[in-house]
Amino acid sequence: MPGMDLDDLSPDALRALLEWQREMGVDEALTETPVDRFALPEKMPQPAAAAPLTPAAVQAAPADEAVDPVTEAERAAAAAATLEDLRAAIERYPHCDLRLGAKQVVFSDGDPRARVMLIGEAPGRDEDRQGKPFVGQAGQLLDKMLDAIGMSRHADDPGRSLYITNLLPWRPEGNRDPTVEETAMMLPFLRRHVELADPEVLILMGNHACFALLGRRGITKMRGQWLEAMGKPAMPMLHTAYLLRQPHAKRQAWEDLLRLQDRLEAKA
Ligand code: URA
Repeated sequence: MPGMDLDDLSPDALRALLEWQREMGVDEALTETPVDRFALPEKMPQPAAAAPLTPAAVQAAPADEAVDPVTEAERAAAAAATLEDLRAAIERYPHCDLRLGAKQVVFSDGDPRARVMLIGEAPGRDEDRQGKPFVGQAGQLLDKMLDAIGMSRHADDPGRSLYITNLLPWRPEGNRDPTVEETAMMLPFLRRHVELADPEVLILMGNHACFALLGRRGITKMRGQWLEAMGKPAMPMLHTAYLLRQPHAKRQAWEDLLRLQDRLEAKA
């Protein structure tokens, strides 16, 4: 940083600076002096010719090269017998780079015995800080809307409570959209999450969750319908972050909540 001698700063101050940069969405380290890319050789040095592929060479190859992140995720998720195991498995899972930019895993909130499980997209800044999904502005709106139909993530009665998680457990830096690869490798964990919580119905909040679980985009057309995802009745709903930007759409979200309420009452 210009004008600042980093050698004079304490480790705590350096850590705080680094965290601040991360918060601002910095995800690439730059050197102090600019790199003259015109001066770089036109052709990068080529690696030495590959050694012949013998059985011994295959055995000696670093294990990582053979790792398929999705298969690894499936294996880790299947081995989780409880929600606590699953959270620990996600915390240990090394292949998703989203973890590098996030403070912590945001696993879930609410009551895992609830009849309804809501799946959002990914933690934002507030969720990353607090370690819980939907605690920022979009979450506060969600709580208000649920309250209007007598539901709450804090309710003791599983008939009135709610279980909340996200498609992705780490905040994408700068709130960028997750990549297809990141979504694919975290999906086995979400699938196991749904199996272990075993709710009666799912609410899929926003386009990313719908696309990942239903394989379709177009939330404005799908919202309010009972579809099927992961073997459960699933209703796509407009994301509350969208409702904050487009308050006129709250009326549609309200209709969808009433449809949820009807279903829960009919099957009570
Ligand atoms: N948006 C989401 O999809 N999930 C959160 O946890 C917060 C905001």
